[in-house]
Amino acid sequence: MKRSVATAFAPASVGNVAIGFDILGFSVDALGDRVTVKRSSRPGVTITAITGVVENLPLEAAGNTAGRALLALQEAAAPDTGFEMTIHKGIPLGSGLGGSAASAVGAVVAANALLDRPLTLIDLLKFAMQGEAVASGSMHVDNIAPSLFGGLVLTVGIDQPRVKQIPVPRAVRAVIVHPHMVLGTREARAMLNKSVNMSDFVWQTANLAGFISGCYTDDLDLIRASFEDVIIEPQRHKLIPGFREVREAAMAAGALGCSISGAGPTMFAWSTVDAAEAVRSAMVDSFAARGTQTDHWVTGMEGRGARLVAD
Ligand code: HSE
Repeated sequence: MKRSVATAFAPASVGNVAIGFDILGFSVDALGDRVTVKRSSRPGVTITAITGVVENLPLEAAGNTAGRALLALQEAAAPDTGFEMTIHKGIPLGSGLGGSAASAVGAVVAANALLDRPLTLIDLLKFAMQGEAVASGSMHVDNIAPSLFGGLVLTVGIDQPRVKQIPVPRAVRAVIVHPHMVLGTREARAMLNKSVNMSDFVWQTANLAGFISGCYTDDLDLIRASFEDVIIEPQRHKLIPGFREVREAAMAAGALGCSISGAGPTMFAWSTVDAAEAVRSAMVDSFAARGTQTDHWVTGMEGRGARLVAD
């Protein structure tokens, strides 16, 4: 019998991971969005409610990230089926933790469970990308792909995306620290220079290659040496008051590297499991010293991607 309702949980994510602007990200299972999709006799896509940590989002489907993603799926795979959707936000708005991506991913994963012939994850990725474009004005995949597939994920290509889940050394943990402030992805993208100088290009390329090689070969020293964004972070860090101090505190506490999560203001670090709690405390205390409250998590990166949960 055809299923008429499904609910999906889609995890938060850290985009860019310092050196992979717009192409690399990892999932953060500690928080995420839940999206329920029902078949409806009403044509099109209707968003009936948005609850949770963010409520004032557009209810009009075409202007909502989850709505836009679901419209794209409907147009391609279920033109005669109406959908009704509710979104429960677990990821704060403008946090740099992939909230718009998670809602879009949750919508397409839930809707996929209602289709007679389910689509592939790559199809779902493409539909979710259209939703992400509503929020940020561009088709980047570094939050969508990890939220959908789980773990540390590299995506090559936009029209024909190729997705690779990259192994993270067992001893490594991610520390995520979300300061209570809001940054818009659109603005954080608009401020970036449109060209890159040659020396920075060479360093960034070396760092991305070194980082990924280090992940595949369990080489923590190479990961540490490569963990530096020489292009985006120097332009954006001023948007996060205290960035330099927090980063220095994380490094002094033994982090392998520390940078901005996506477009910020959340910051993240990688560290070995034995140093993770010290890195977390150092970052949290550094924000607290300037009166900034935070939420924070320490997590592994073998995380699962979006999945169906009880309605
Ligand atoms: N790669 C994107 C950026 C992530 O840094 O602008 C934001 O969602």
